[in-house]
Amino acid sequence: PVTVKKICCIGAGYVGGPTCAVIALKCPDITVTIVDLNKARIDAWNSPDYKLPIYEPGLDDVVKQARGRNLFFSTEIDKAIKEADLIFVSVNTPTKKSGVGAGFAADLNYVESATRRIAAVATSSKIVVEKSTVPMRTAESMRTILEANSKPGLRFDILSNPEFLAEGTAIGDLFAPDRVLIGSLQTPEGKSAASSLIDVYAHWVPKERILTVGLWSSELSKLAANAMLAQRISSINALSAICEATGANIDEVAHAVGKDSRVGPKFLRASVGFGGSCFQKDILNLVYLSESLHLPEVAAYWRQVVTMNEYQKRRFSKTVVDTLFNTITGKNITVLGFAFKADTGDTRESAAITLIRDFLSERARVTIYDPQVDEAQIWLDLQEALPDTPLENIKKQVIIAPSALAAASNTDAVVIATEWKEFVEIDWAAVYGTMNKPAFIFDGRAILDADELRKIGFTVKTIGRGVAF
Ligand code: NAD
Ligand code: UDX
Repeated sequence: PVTVKKICCIGAGYVGGPTCAVIALKCPDITVTIVDLNKARIDAWNSPDYKLPIYEPGLDDVVKQARGRNLFFSTEIDKAIKEADLIFVSVNTPTKKSGVGAGFAADLNYVESATRRIAAVATSSKIVVEKSTVPMRTAESMRTILEANSKPGLRFDILSNPEFLAEGTAIGDLFAPDRVLIGSLQTPEGKSAASSLIDVYAHWVPKERILTVGLWSSELSKLAANAMLAQRISSINALSAICEATGANIDEVAHAVGKDSRVGPKFLRASVGFGGSCFQKDILNLVYLSESLHLPEVAAYWRQVVTMNEYQKRRFSKTVVDTLFNTITGKNITVLGFAFKADTGDTRESAAITLIRDFLSERARVTIYDPQVDEAQIWLDLQEALPDTPLENIKKQVIIAPSALAAASNTDAVVIATEWKEFVEIDWAAVYGTMNKPAFIFDGRAILDADELRKIGFTVKTIGRGVAF
């Protein structure tokens, strides 16, 4: 197998950045260059005061140790491709917005253009690794493009190495992964390329955690893992609706069910609905695949996970309206949290956006606070959620507050959309004094102590908790 000395990573986003920064940290003998078309993003990765383009706990520490040593961020894509023995393709693969498969299929435009760039500029053989989450058999398309467009005599081995990190815990996940999955063709050449990549991970990952499988199993495993994780959340959220209607408590139910070692305790938190750039996109991708394979029952099964998630978001915003005497027109609703989960500034598919859109459609006034999402991003997301409303009009209905306390004061209702720890620590007694009465709290993440809040005087509705009979 080739000993990897130089790695190029195409795509300096949430996956390429942290993943390859950790590889550089753990492999001082390998030079890692992360490239991107987006100059502003690369500039931020290179910023002297480590104002990195993404917020991820522990990431700045990793970058501080490796940047300039064997970790480089650059827009010189061709140069990095030329020099590398191994290239990670870690570009975005969003859901297609138009054309065949719109709304379901993955848009492979970015993967294809990165692949074509590799073919156009490579002057030596490469191992090309799919890091992006892709539809099955994308590796085959990549190989065809590479072989049809490259200089004669070059070899390209394609590997699939999907990434399982979760945002907010990316660095911990990368330092100690449950598993690293490497898919290759089961030919001598394919296996040899896989062992080159195994040697990279083996710098810090125990060998028994590095799984080698066939290419197609690897591609499908990534979609399957995300689909099954999301399915757990939709299952628990479906049960949360039953809890609210009956007086059961979803935390007690989840705890009791999760104690069965076959089910396990993790990932059973009821919520306002899952968000993030992966779950919905990857399930829709699986639905599309199932339909293309003429497996309509399989497609319908997975589609229901997304349908349930939509229902959960709608159900929650309806609870707010119903509880506030069936109208929120002109009322002040405070939404705490805008990111799709705590410990990230990422807002892609955040449930908060859907809730705020619903509140604005009911003509409420909305105050928003999130400790990591900047204002420009919030305006961008709201504009995208309400394409028919001019931004000036949205701005008339929305205030972005500088702190949780400021946001929660002088309002009719507080909605917890993201489970940021600082929301638990708010001086709720002080907030209560400033609010219109009755003062409502809707806890979409079940993080607050509802009994304590009721003692202060609040009317509290917590996701998955019914009124005891
Ligand atoms: P991202 O949008 O944050 O980053 C992708 C980057 O690729 C962008 O900066 C973009 O400018 C760049 N890019 C696109 N085309 C390019 C090209 N031809 N040349 C150079 N740069 C190019 O996306 P992400 O969240 O990092 O996700 C990347 C992939 O990883 C996706 O397939 C996603 O499904 C998968 N994934 C994401 C996560 C996650 O938590 N975000 C986890 C696992 C897997
Ligand atoms: C997910 C997968 O976990 C990760 O393995 C994959 O690589 C990328 O997609 P991510 O989207 O970053 O990671 O975060 P995750 O922790 O999975 O949360 C996704 C959404 O589910 C968030 O909105 C979160 O709040 C929600 N969630 C999670 C719940 O509602 N309940 C839970 O019990 C867990």
